[in-house]
Order: sequence, then C-alpha cells, then structure tokens
Amino acid sequence: MAMKEFDIKSLIQSRFGENYSLHERYMNKTLVTVLRTIGFDKCYKSAKGAYLYDADGNDYLDFLSGYGVFGMGRNNPTIAKAIKDAIDMDLPNMVQLDCALLSGLLAERVANLLGGRLNAVFFCNSGTEANEGAIKFARAHTKRPRILSLSSGYHGLSYGSLSLTVSPHFQDGYGPFLPGAMKVPYNDLEALEAELKKMDVAAFIFEPVQGKGVNIPSDDYFPKAQELCRKYGTLFVADEVQTGLGRTGKMFAFRHWNLDPDIVTLAKALSGGYVPCAAFVTTREIHQSSFSSLDRCVVHSTTFGRNNLAMVCGLAAIHVLENEGLVENCAKMGDLLLQKLNALKEKHSYIKEVRGKGLMIAIEFKEPNGFGQKLAWKGLKVANDALFTQMIVTSLLDKHRILTQVASHGLDAIKILPPFVIGEKEVDRFVNALDDVLTNAANVTGPLWKFGTRLLSAAMANKKNK
Ligand SMILES: Cc1ncc(COP(=O)(O)O)c(C=O)c1O
Repeated sequence: MAMKEFDIKSLIQSRFGENYSLHERYMNKTLVTVLRTIGFDKCYKSAKGAYLYDADGNDYLDFLSGYGVFGMGRNNPTIAKAIKDAIDMDLPNMVQLDCALLSGLLAERVANLLGGRLNAVFFCNSGTEANEGAIKFARAHTKRPRILSLSSGYHGLSYGSLSLTVSPHFQDGYGPFLPGAMKVPYNDLEALEAELKKMDVAAFIFEPVQGKGVNIPSDDYFPKAQELCRKYGTLFVADEVQTGLGRTGKMFAFRHWNLDPDIVTLAKALSGGYVPCAAFVTTREIHQSSFSSLDRCVVHSTTFGRNNLAMVCGLAAIHVLENEGLVENCAKMGDLLLQKLNALKEKHSYIKEVRGKGLMIAIEFKEPNGFGQKLAWKGLKVANDALFTQMIVTSLLDKHRILTQVASHGLDAIKILPPFVIGEKEVDRFVNALDDVLTNAANVTGPLWKFGTRLLSAAMANKKNK
C-alpha cells in the first residue's frame, strides 16, 4: 500500500467552513445552536495580536482573548519561534523519571517573579487542575478538612474546584460535592471569621479580582482576611488563573493590596496562547508536606504537566511580558479604558457602573431614563433576564466586529478581557462602538431591539423543540 503523506495545511484548507456542522454532529451541538442564535457562528481563518480574521480578510477585535489566554496576543512571533526552535532541537521530553532542564528553568522564572517565600512550583495543565493541587496541598499541610471560597467566585469545573465554585448554574445536577467545601459571603469579614474560628479550615481561596462579574471588594477586605487566616492557621490562597501575569496592571493582582499569599495558582496567560501551561506555587514547607517521604515523591503528579512545549511557552510568554513592558501597558490602557468608559456613562443612562483593574473590566447596565426605553427594558427583563446584555454583545460583534462576553449569569453586564498588547487605536475602536450601540439602544423601535425580539423568539422556539 502506498504511504500517504500527512498534510495539515491541505486538510485545513479543504475542510474550512465545515466547522459548525462537524461540531453539531460530533461535539457540543447545544453550543452550536447558541452560537448560531446569537450570531457568533463565524469561521475565523487567521489571527494576529489583538485581531482575528475571517476568510474575506475582515478583522475582528478580540476583547475576549480566549477567556484570558491571549495576554501576549494571538500567534505571538517570539513565542512561535521558541516553540519551532524547541521542536527542531529534538529534545528529550517527558522522560518522567529524570529532571528536565526546561521545567527547572520555568520554575526558577516563576519563583523569581513571585519573589519571597513562594519558591516551590508544581506544573499542571489547566486552571482547575492548579486549584485542585492547591486544595490537596493545603489539606495535607494543615491536616484540616475544610476549604472556604467566596460567593460569586469561579475556580474551575473539576470536582474540587467546582465544589468551591458555588453556583446553581455550574453545580446543578452534578452533586454531591467535596465535603468541607463552603462559600462565605463576599466582602464580609465577620462571616469569614465565624468559619475560620472553628479551626478546621485548611484554606481560604479567592480571586483578587473575580472573573465572573469583575468584582473587587472594599480596600481593607483582603488585608484583613489575610490577617484572620494567619490568626486561625488557615492558608491564604490566591487564584491568579485569570488575573496573573499582568492582566490587572500588576504582575500579580494580589499586589494591589500588598498581600502575601501562602499559595498562588496560575494558568491562562502562562501558556503564551499556544500550549496549556498551569502551575501552583507554594512555600517549600507546604510543598514538602505532600512530598514528605521518599515513597511519596510522586504522590501528586500529572503525566503532561512538565512537558517541554508548555515550558517553552511559559518561558517565552514571561520573556515577552517583561521585554515588551506589557504589565505597564495593561495598567496604562486599563486606565484609559476606564476613563473613556466612565465618560460614556455620563452620556448613556443605560450604564450603571464601569469597574475593573487593568485590562479586566465590566460595564454594568441598568434600567434607562426615557419612558419608552424603560418600558422596553422592563418588557425584555420579564421575557428573559440576560437578553439586554446579549443584545449589546451581539451588536458589538455584528456591527463593529468586536468580540466581548456577558460578564456573568444573572448580571446585566458585559466583560472585556483584551490582550495585553492593545494600544489607543483598539481602546478607541471599542469605546466608539459601545457608544454607537448604546445610542442605537435608545431607539426602541430600531434594529437593536428588533434583533432582541428575534433572539427571544429563537430562545423560545428552541425550548419548545427540546
Ligand atoms: C479565576 C479562575 N480560576 C480557575 C479557572 C479554571 O481554569 P481552566 O478553565 O483552565 O480550568 C478559571 C477559568 O476561567 C478562572 O478564571
């Protein structure tokens, strides 16, 4: 039999456009229905920096960043070159019973970024897996069973992390959850202390800026929560999966409050946008509580965790971050966005609040002022709680080719998570587009509201067909 050459380029070219039908047939067909309904069923052909491109060469400004993965921009040339160079070197990979150089180098880099006492690194493949590790190591170190998280927090969807992501939307149908996992109300030190006092809490895990809804507590909350954790012997765990490596305008978001966590979890941007790369970083003492004897030297382990290409991506991503001043750029562009979006708030009564840090921003909506607009808003709310925000998100894509997302279930807010590489051009394109979409929203018989009605009918028809 003649050997056939594998040619990925011609495979992609010959099947381009079958994206949605393949997913409908073999993967999550419910997602396909949703994407078609909200007009997100695009086939992107290429990507660079802050932009995606379709087959006609139209550019789409990516303020979604693959849920925060593309900090260094899409297809960053420095990271791409590092991967290609590493492949060309025919390196030994995942020998497992050895100590590879690349994982050692990335561990050194991450520990140096964190500085101080966090210098023991465990590499894994996703944010949720980093948090699972943090939970296990906290229990092993403190010999306590319970883990606390915050209301409206998100830590991932595998069982330990999902037990701490206390939300009916994510949890319904999947119980029972990890015994001892419990949420405490956001921004409430008394409630936190009441639980910590029981002296059975291994860890309190928090996102310095919450991803779902972009929530930031009062200034004294985290410093006092840290004090309470120290007082009662509970480990203070910062989930920096989304906020880490510059996103909020500091290398780590916990630095906005000068915190000193016992464990930090990382993922997303550490991948450089190419190969999954995640980690949790602890003190040496906490690390050794798990790897406590020779026969426990691989008691926590994952086959792909230290793979070469992931390590190359991590090293190259950190290089780009530092070399191109991207943390500073996040702070600068974030301030500019907040300033310009707050100016829009003066113009559009639909905007309730603009909040965020660096390039992690939510724009929350409310019932507007005009009589007709109030009526339309109320009518839509009765029919479907999330529809107004979805109308805005869809209009931004449809009319202005900008990708954004609904910030959280049950919240009238959109969230933007731009790549760290954006400049003033991208800030202005987004602000002008939102201005235009909200101006159109003032006309309740205009195309935006007609589209809202269409969305509603599609959602209802889909419910009936189930
Ligand atoms: C704060 C936070 N923690 C954990 C996770 C889970 O990460 P992953 O999707 O890589 O499992 C996410 C993902 O969005 C996140 O934002």
